Amino acid sequence: MRTWARVAAVAGLALAISATRAADLHPATGMLAAVRASTAANSATIGTTAQLAAMPETPSPFQPSPARAALGRQVFYDARLSEPAGTSCAACHDPRQGFAGNHGSTLGVALGSRPGSFGTRNVPSALYAAYVPRLFFYQDDDAPAPIPFGGLFADGRADTVAELVRRPLLDPLEMHNVSAEAIARKLRSAPYADGLRKEFGAGALQTNAGAMAALGAAMEAFLQSREMAPFSSRYDAWVQGKARLSAQELRGLKLFKEPDRGNCASCHKFNETARNPARSMFTDFGYDAIGAPRNAAIPANRDPRHVDEGLCATAAAKAWPDSAQWCGYFRTPSLRNVAARERYMHNGVFSNLRDAIAFYATRTIEPRRWYGGGRLFDDVAPAHRANVNVATLPLNRRQGMQPALSEQDIDAILAFLQTLTDAPFEDAAQRNMAAQAARTKRPQRFPAQAYIRR
Ligand code: HEC
Ligand code: HEC
Repeated sequence: MRTWARVAAVAGLALAISATRAADLHPATGMLAAVRASTAANSATIGTTAQLAAMPETPSPFQPSPARAALGRQVFYDARLSEPAGTSCAACHDPRQGFAGNHGSTLGVALGSRPGSFGTRNVPSALYAAYVPRLFFYQDDDAPAPIPFGGLFADGRADTVAELVRRPLLDPLEMHNVSAEAIARKLRSAPYADGLRKEFGAGALQTNAGAMAALGAAMEAFLQSREMAPFSSRYDAWVQGKARLSAQELRGLKLFKEPDRGNCASCHKFNETARNPARSMFTDFGYDAIGAPRNAAIPANRDPRHVDEGLCATAAAKAWPDSAQWCGYFRTPSLRNVAARERYMHNGVFSNLRDAIAFYATRTIEPRRWYGGGRLFDDVAPAHRANVNVATLPLNRRQGMQPALSEQDIDAILAFLQTLTDAPFEDAAQRNMAAQAARTKRPQRFPAQAYIRR
């Protein structure tokens, strides 16, 4: 029998003890702690649960100093910070792709600062990263045990921005600095070095640790700035009664929400009746194993034994009991600005947003369409394939059954997802979606009305 409460306490994690408590601002970070209040069974109440209703109405819990955020912005765009120089944070988190992208790589995963150096994960958007809560456990009323939420990266392995920035800066496959000292040296001679000293104290850059701390604090302020969380999408304007959505977009919204159809909102949570846009992050920051297909283009995947199993690596590092139960689990990403991105899922396996949606509808019904050789869940080690979610709609279908979504339904959800693009990325997203549509082949096997209600 697992004693999760003790585990969480021993690991020093924020254990959300009651519903109201979990919806409060996180005491340590001021971040909103989102809660998974629903499963497929009770998701009719999405966005209207007591927990979410308790969230504050203020649009932003963050008030970073503008000077500090401006310094963080300079660091973000500083191409000198890689080894060799040339790869800034923005090279991978490209503003033209909603702060995502893969640095010009077409493999679905990022190219680092050296030619031919590829990582194993797709670059997520750095937008709204400030809203990702620290890793915490929460137990829903009807759940058997508390489950993890939050933490930065697809496997939640970083809790703070200061911790997060070390990873790309020091990762040989990313910015490839050899040490904190190498980074500190670059900061001391940066054009914004005096700005850092003014903001963090004259001696701030003297020690390597001090320089890294200043970098982390400046980056945190930038990620908390309005620029990195604009909430200026057509969806946001519509919620405020300032824009209209088309009939198809509204149909997509409905399908996205309906528990017996898309059921997307059971994980990609939102609340279209709340004026606080932070209630519509299109994620509950929870983890799930949806069994994204293996991306054969990733160089590390040439070794058939190489598998990226996500949360269980973090679970093992933190010594949670039975860490293997989390293999195959990745954090549910926000779908804000998804239309500006070019690759989808943690391994970047999809290059077409419509495919990412269709995958949910026919994953197990048409395994050959999605998995090489038709072997289900081929990017999870065989021993852990039973972890993959086959219970939640629309993932609960089996071969021979009808999908929960028709081709028209998928188009409608695709149209709705395009309303989540913030104003600065609208043109880029439209170009991206047009390019993807030109490549889309529409399987016509399932007629429009061919779905079964539960
Ligand atoms: C070579 C490409 C590359 C560079 C350069 C890079 N990143 Fe990333 N970034 C990634 C990848 C890949 C991930 C996802 C890693 C994972 O999930 O394990 C990521 C994840 C993130 C996230 C987490 C988002 C989330 O929702 O969990 C943030 C924030 C971020 N990076 C900020 C930065 C900052 C700040 C810099 C510069 C110091 C930077 N990145 C440089 C590739 C890059
Ligand atoms: C059971 C929880 C769950 C449900 C239901 C769900 N998703 Fe997801 N979604 C996830 C998780 C977890 C990921 C990340 C998987 C990965 O990276 O391998 C994800 C990833 C995605 C992505 C990729 C985003 C990106 O930037 O890479 C899209 C698009 C998406 N989901 C759309 C949908 C749609 C549309 C629906 C409804 C048809 C849906 N999801 C239903 C959990 C869920």
